[in-house]
Amino acid sequence: MIAIDHIHKVFNKGKANQVDALNGIDLKINNGEFLVIVGSNGSGKTTLLNIVAGSVLPTSGTISIDGNDVTDIPDYKRSQWIARVLQNPVSGTASDLSIIDNFRLAAIRTKPKGLSIGVDEAFKKLVKEKIATLGMGLENKTDQPMDTLSGGQRQALTLLMSIMDSCKVLLLDEPTAALDPRSAEVVMKTADKLIKDFNLTTILITHNLKDAYNYGSRIIQMREGIILKDINTEKKAELKQNDLFDWFG
Ligand SMILES: Nc1ncnc2c1ncn2[C@@H]1O[C@H](COP(=O)(O)OP(=O)(O)O)[C@@H](O)[C@H]1O
Ligand SMILES: [Mg+2]
Repeated sequence: MIAIDHIHKVFNKGKANQVDALNGIDLKINNGEFLVIVGSNGSGKTTLLNIVAGSVLPTSGTISIDGNDVTDIPDYKRSQWIARVLQNPVSGTASDLSIIDNFRLAAIRTKPKGLSIGVDEAFKKLVKEKIATLGMGLENKTDQPMDTLSGGQRQALTLLMSIMDSCKVLLLDEPTAALDPRSAEVVMKTADKLIKDFNLTTILITHNLKDAYNYGSRIIQMREGIILKDINTEKKAELKQNDLFDWFG
């Protein structure tokens, strides 16, 4: 479980440009839960995700993962539990390197258990098997440079790469915002499948209310650094897509 308790985040405290980005967030996210966050620009969504990842430290409050207090643990040490995928498909991968080399880099970064990158043929075989599960035919293109692929293909590979180790938590900050609608759909379906296959605890930030409606087991709406609405699985099943649009009306 991810337990977020009384989190406040103030940027530029005491200065003219002070921003109270988070104003007391209490949130418990169960293992295997797929939480969707919606909210207008500046409502604190990314800051909250950064605090879970550890790339931003809270002004006050605590955060724990599976009972371990990680409040003061920096992001690079949290990466054993946490994978994240950002908006821009280019930022997740090295453009001029091949698919297989990108997977090698990811493997070195996260040092997955039971996966030795020293045994090259075994590594290649495993990566090809994993890539084949995406159903995009990319398993035959693993020596091709990343920048020869579409944004959607890259983002799907980034997703796969980020969860290939034993990570438990997946953070997605508008992962389809930079993609065309068709690629966006492929990436969302891929994400949904991987989340279910690996039973990942997931937080997805999206501006796409259709995705917010179709994916995830729970949905929260943020405004001005607080949680305005928290719709659990039961209530989400009764929710109509138009209700969601009304929240922003
Ligand atoms: N590093 C930072 N320094 C100063 N202000 C920031 C910083 N990061 C975010 N903010 C401010 O905090 C508020 C919340 O931002 P953010 O979490 O990015 O919102 P969202 O993702 O919901 O659009 C905004 O007013 C934003 O300008
Ligand atoms: Mg944001």
